[in-house]
Amino acid sequence: MEETSTRTIERIGEQRKHVMERLGRIRRRIAVMSGKGGVGKTTVAINIAALLAENNSVGLLDADIDCPNVNKFLGITEKFSVSGGKIKPVEKYSMKIASMASLQDSEDTAIIWRGPMISHAILQFLESVEWGNLDYLIIDTPPGTSDAALTLMQLVQLSGVVIVSTPHPVSLTDANKTINMAKQMNVPVLGIVENMAGGIFGSGVEKLAESAGVPFLGSIKLQKTLSNMTSKGVPAVKDDKNLRKDFENIVKGLLLHQQKD
Ligand SMILES: Nc1ncnc2c1ncn2[C@@H]1O[C@H](COP(=O)(O)OP(=O)(O)OP(=O)(O)O)[C@@H](O)[C@H]1O
Ligand SMILES: [Mg+2]
Repeated sequence: MEETSTRTIERIGEQRKHVMERLGRIRRRIAVMSGKGGVGKTTVAINIAALLAENNSVGLLDADIDCPNVNKFLGITEKFSVSGGKIKPVEKYSMKIASMASLQDSEDTAIIWRGPMISHAILQFLESVEWGNLDYLIIDTPPGTSDAALTLMQLVQLSGVVIVSTPHPVSLTDANKTINMAKQMNVPVLGIVENMAGGIFGSGVEKLAESAGVPFLGSIKLQKTLSNMTSKGVPAVKDDKNLRKDFENIVKGLLLHQQKD
């Protein structure tokens, strides 16, 4: 039994080394995560990436393999061009974007994969996409603390995670799980973003940040501009002055809390 776990740790260590050798040209890798689905991870990941891309070289990886939404949010219909086993990412809003949606014939096709295949697909994207030299790779993830989150925290040396939560008690509980997972896996939590604040949801994410001892990065209200973002295909920060300010503050906080490298 003991021998098996030693071998597992060795294997993970080797895999991690291999992945990191391939990612040497990506300075910072930041994953946007939440325990709960539908709280705004993709919205936050895209807007953070679009702002950073105004002054940095930025990649955006859609690690939501079975329900990839990044392309839909950005109005991307292009497919990847692949040559010599290398994938050329789609470029839009100065970002290099890689999503499973760029490999699918139709967005309605269901991808029905087990955990190890999800994990494999994420690593393939990290290794096979021609990212070039990047200052930041922002990674949009599916909800939960299992396959994708585990692969990223275990095998990719993440610079940190940004957690997204609505003020709803269920979302707060699930966000706290992701914070605890990151702590357990020694991945820095760069901060937590409150989304869909106001109205019947109220607020409450700042309190969670305080009690969990992680930075609170800011709050985004529940609003029509954001619920319409998918139909326009334009990041809100390029389309709405107030939202741009909100996200600028979030990015400022994020940069403040990122570790020096
Ligand atoms: N502050 C907001 N106000 C209004 N609508 C919002 C807000 N934030 C996100 N939305 C909308 O809510 C829906 C869910 O957001 P999004 O897809 O970003 O969540 P997610 O956490 O990535 O979901 P999933 O867990 O399925 O990946 C989207 O239609 C998005 O446009
Ligand atoms: Mg999403």
